[in-house]
Amino acid sequence: MPAFPEPSLVLPACDFTVFGGTGDLALRKLLPALYHREREHQLDSDTRVIGVSRHQLDDAGYRELVASALDEHLAAEDRDDDAVRRLLGRLHHLTLDAQAPDGWHLLQGMLKDRPQPEPVRVFYLAVAPQLFGPICARLDELGVVSADSRLVMEKPIGTDLASSQRINDAVGEVFEEQQIFRIDHYLGKESVQNLLVTRFANTFLEPLWNSRWVDHVQITVAETLGVGDRTAYYDGAGALRDMVQNHLLQLLCLVAMEPPTYVGPETVRDEKLKVLQALRPMTPEEVDRHTVRGRYGTGLAAGATAASYVDDLGHESNTETFVAIRAEVQNWRWAGVPFYLRTGKRMALRESRIEVVFKEPPHAMFPGSAGHTAPNRLTIHVQPDEGMQLHLIAKVPGPGGIRLQPVSLDLSYATAFLERCPDPYERLLMDVVRGFQTLFMRRDEVEAAWSWVQPIAARWAERGDRPRTYPAGTNGPTAAAVLIERDGRSWQEDNT
Ligand code: BG6
Repeated sequence: MPAFPEPSLVLPACDFTVFGGTGDLALRKLLPALYHREREHQLDSDTRVIGVSRHQLDDAGYRELVASALDEHLAAEDRDDDAVRRLLGRLHHLTLDAQAPDGWHLLQGMLKDRPQPEPVRVFYLAVAPQLFGPICARLDELGVVSADSRLVMEKPIGTDLASSQRINDAVGEVFEEQQIFRIDHYLGKESVQNLLVTRFANTFLEPLWNSRWVDHVQITVAETLGVGDRTAYYDGAGALRDMVQNHLLQLLCLVAMEPPTYVGPETVRDEKLKVLQALRPMTPEEVDRHTVRGRYGTGLAAGATAASYVDDLGHESNTETFVAIRAEVQNWRWAGVPFYLRTGKRMALRESRIEVVFKEPPHAMFPGSAGHTAPNRLTIHVQPDEGMQLHLIAKVPGPGGIRLQPVSLDLSYATAFLERCPDPYERLLMDVVRGFQTLFMRRDEVEAAWSWVQPIAARWAERGDRPRTYPAGTNGPTAAAVLIERDGRSWQEDNT
């Protein structure tokens, strides 16, 4: 089964049922993503989108709501009125409360009243995780889950290993693992997919990609936004559960994994799982030494004074909005190579990057007077401005002696490809309909990630101390700089 199909392929007819159909994710991400696929004529003429929510809306009301969301979220140059009209024509709305028995027969009627062959049924759970199990049970009772049905789950899948297992068990009662698509939208980002290609479709990197030549790896996912109106969810999660357990560990997996025999859902995910299982578990003392928690205080962000996390929340809290961790992958390839992970809200820049920092040459041939040397580095710019830089040392041209200077080979997606970089959800939603699971998390991956994160969360909870405050608009608490500087290294903050 090809895991990376041609993007222009028209998809099979599909009934796309979105629980949480009026929510932020649906309006900001899912429907604009479907719009882009509509514009490319990828949706079959029989495809329908059924938004499910507790709101009292009929189809016309839902179409109006989605139309204004598209107005807000589509860039002017991407807008095609005909495609908007076609997408709106596919929309339906059903009012039902996932926790109450009423209204479900309407969904059953809509899904079953279809000509043969039945379209693919996608059930997208963009709702709170405690509803995942009850919704699946209800779908089962209605008899609308067939072999050609798929379930999409948004994170958070639990708050720890046990709760994630409970959710996975509950949905696993109704859907087979091959029907379950656990979304980590970072896996749909172009620059993240390109990580596999960079590593395994080229020959020059792979011989260097190990502890013999790599000094350390840094993975940073920095955001400038605060928690906004997601305080209720975020305060129960914090940066460790919201970002590290999923996005950062998935990036780490793609950097550290072994080459699979081919790109397929099981081969790729088997290799990622091995990385997660090789992460060295931390003792409480190691948690104290190798992790830093922070939360933003007031500060200057994007030229304006930003409120602190506590002010955003309206009450005191021990939740972190910043995490830095020194992790280790205990296997043959990576023994002794630290992986420094860092993520935070209200930081100086919105920037996600991976730095693979190589070791110094074994022998310093050029005299110190030749000037600045720096280790070679591969920078992968995940976002914004997707691209890559290979940092080298070059000779400064001139007739005199040898003077050295760091320079970089730059690849910018925007200039190399001149194409619109699709939103990750476009790719991921199409893969759901096709049934391609390569870019989705398998149950054992999610659980292995929780197993590693859990002792960190447990130790923090045991300590019960407040996260360190960092001013909004900065790179996090000083302790995060100390974490890496203790090892004689420093965070790479710019592109030099
Ligand atoms: C989400 C987190 O999964 O990812 C958010 O819940 C975070 O807190 C977001 O802001 C970041 O995604 P992106 O694509 O903007 O980097």
